Amino acid sequence: MTSASPQSPIGVFDSGIGGLSVLRALRAELPNERFVYLADSGNAPYGERGDAYVAARTHAIAEHLQQAHGIKALVVACNTATAAAIHEVRSRYPQLPSVGLEPAIKPAVALSRTGRIGVIATRGTLASAKFGRLLASLGGQAEFVVQPCDGLAYAIERSTEPTADGAASAREVRALCARYIGAMGPFGTEAGAIDTLVLGCTHYVFAEEVLRELVGPGVQLVDTGLPVARHTRRLLEAARQLAPAPAPGPQVQLLTTGEIGPLQAAASRWLGLPASCCGLAAMPLPLAA
Ligand code: DGL
Repeated sequence: MTSASPQSPIGVFDSGIGGLSVLRALRAELPNERFVYLADSGNAPYGERGDAYVAARTHAIAEHLQQAHGIKALVVACNTATAAAIHEVRSRYPQLPSVGLEPAIKPAVALSRTGRIGVIATRGTLASAKFGRLLASLGGQAEFVVQPCDGLAYAIERSTEPTADGAASAREVRALCARYIGAMGPFGTEAGAIDTLVLGCTHYVFAEEVLRELVGPGVQLVDTGLPVARHTRRLLEAARQLAPAPAPGPQVQLLTTGEIGPLQAAASRWLGLPASCCGLAAMPLPLAA
């Protein structure tokens, strides 16, 4: 690994564009920092791939971000990759401050009044031992209605481009959200209804408007962007690696293993970033599925 300094960038990655929702929170919390974001869109979605595949991709990306970009910290902005591999990343790179994501069900318990909480996430996240332990640790404090959303991250991934395909994917996002939210039972603030919905996949933050419409007023949507950004700040402070002042030059580099168009469209739509921030990741060939 190249040696990192407070001026080095923070690495952030996701299976695709979903982690941009976390990058948005990181940039607001850490305005002096530089970021290298890697969207593994050429290999998305992770949610239905299985742990071994996701763990192998996570290692390849963690290695690449250190070797090619000299990152000083890593944010795994993907619940599925965190569940499959954060423990191994931490033991393989003990010197690298690493932050993972998990569905925000602890904060949801504190927020819920009806004690009935919905959790939407990928199949991989919900089936993981890590999520099982998290649920068990909160046993008895609330009732959880857990819904895997096959296909939703992938549809969101393709929905950002201003093309006919993008528009068709946006319709698919709406249809999938309606199907999954409809399967979870009544939402609302009255007794017995789900009053808090945890967005347990970083992609779903970009479907927030549709989800809000479906669950109705009064239901709280909870994601992990802000707490993760604050945790990252604390880790960097403890490691004395916070950038003391804004670095000269571009502060954000967005890279993809897939096609560049969807990343450029998402960067412009959700972060207001120009297409010139985006490029192709010079990574070794993807693994076979
Ligand atoms: N955005 C990812 C997550 O938070 C995964 C989406 C996918 O690739 O299935 O879990």
